[in-house]
Amino acid sequence: MKIWEEEKQSYIRAAMERNSAEENRRLKEELDAVDWSVLEHIYRKETVNERGVFAPLSAVERAEIESRREEFLALGTDAVRAGKVGAVLLAGGQGTRLGLDRPKGTLNIGISRELYLFEQLICNLKEVTDAAGAFVPLYIMTSHINDHDTQEFFAEHAYFGYPKEYVKFFTQELEPACDYEGRVYMESATKPAMSPNGNGGWFGSMVKAGLLADLKEKGIEWINVFAVDNCLQRIADPLFVGATIAYGCQSGAKVVKKAAPDEKIGVLCTEDGRPSIAEYYEMTEEMATARKENGDLLYGYGVILNYLFSEEKLEEIADARMPVHVVEKKIPYLDTDGSHAKPDAPNGYKFETLVLDMVHMMDDCVPFEVEREREFAPIKNLHGVDSLDTARELLAGCGIAL
Ligand code: UTP
Repeated sequence: MKIWEEEKQSYIRAAMERNSAEENRRLKEELDAVDWSVLEHIYRKETVNERGVFAPLSAVERAEIESRREEFLALGTDAVRAGKVGAVLLAGGQGTRLGLDRPKGTLNIGISRELYLFEQLICNLKEVTDAAGAFVPLYIMTSHINDHDTQEFFAEHAYFGYPKEYVKFFTQELEPACDYEGRVYMESATKPAMSPNGNGGWFGSMVKAGLLADLKEKGIEWINVFAVDNCLQRIADPLFVGATIAYGCQSGAKVVKKAAPDEKIGVLCTEDGRPSIAEYYEMTEEMATARKENGDLLYGYGVILNYLFSEEKLEEIADARMPVHVVEKKIPYLDTDGSHAKPDAPNGYKFETLVLDMVHMMDDCVPFEVEREREFAPIKNLHGVDSLDTARELLAGCGIAL
């Protein structure tokens, strides 16, 4: 049965009743191109993430990092200089909490001068490449929704001084969005509402875009994946790369010490003996508050969406299925009466795979502690927690003129 033949699909059917024959021909073409099986995840959303047994995983703490600084730095810098390190900027999200209608990275975080989020990230990367005397290939993941604007923004600003030949863009795929009953929302008369399929598919999308050959040709052995919204992000950090190499691990995750037992941050731990991330809402009260003998939290280190993966291992797991998370979001849509609705509270589901699930596919992972005030300033909202306001304070605290 075609999706538009299903009685319950009221948004699609109402649009079809209003549309001209030509509009319906176009709409059907769009609808036929979608794999609707993703909607079934709504009925499995409670079990999609059924977990094994969690256990604590000790972090490589800052004192240890300091004591081995020279060794880590030398190993990491050698890897950067030898062209073995690539970076992937995850910029395909829609940033609905921030409410921008353009790519998040184009946000001006400056106060008395223009300083764009993308610009600050490139600035952070340049600190590493200047010190190493070598450039790091940067791959930027966009979605079909923001690809054009992102590429144009980089071109307009001359790549913020980073050499263009070291920057490549690729797009991630989209999935349909629906209401809580599984009724697919419409974006316009001829298009269903589609949204990016999460940040977990980045490697698959790179492969699809033909970039595997590029990674191989360049001899990239390590890929540093990071989020667009942390303006204090250290990218291709030689210390982190060096530590992961020194520990002989397939991956590393930058972590910060949890600020409080109930802080809303995913915690790096093990699950059935493999590295894993327990989301804050998956932690029992007992897990969240358990302490070590020295008083530190047992599950005490949260991830900041900055991971290092071995390229070889990524290829090995490239075809593995990842869990699909059913996420509640605000979805603008065309109502059954033909009016446009822009909700200010979540009104339905999007379907996403998450990069944090990749960590569980690795045999091991180095939890690498970084200083929160120096490396973690996420911008999820305009004001309040994890916002432009808090990020500006943190940037100023690091001596960055705004
Ligand atoms: P978030 O989980 O904060 O999602 O993304 P978001 O879509 O940007 O924002 P909200 O939740 O709608 O407010 C974390 C990182 O993952 C990227 C984002 O661009 C950000 O760097 N991401 C997210 C993608 O690249 N693709 C996606 O489909 C989702």
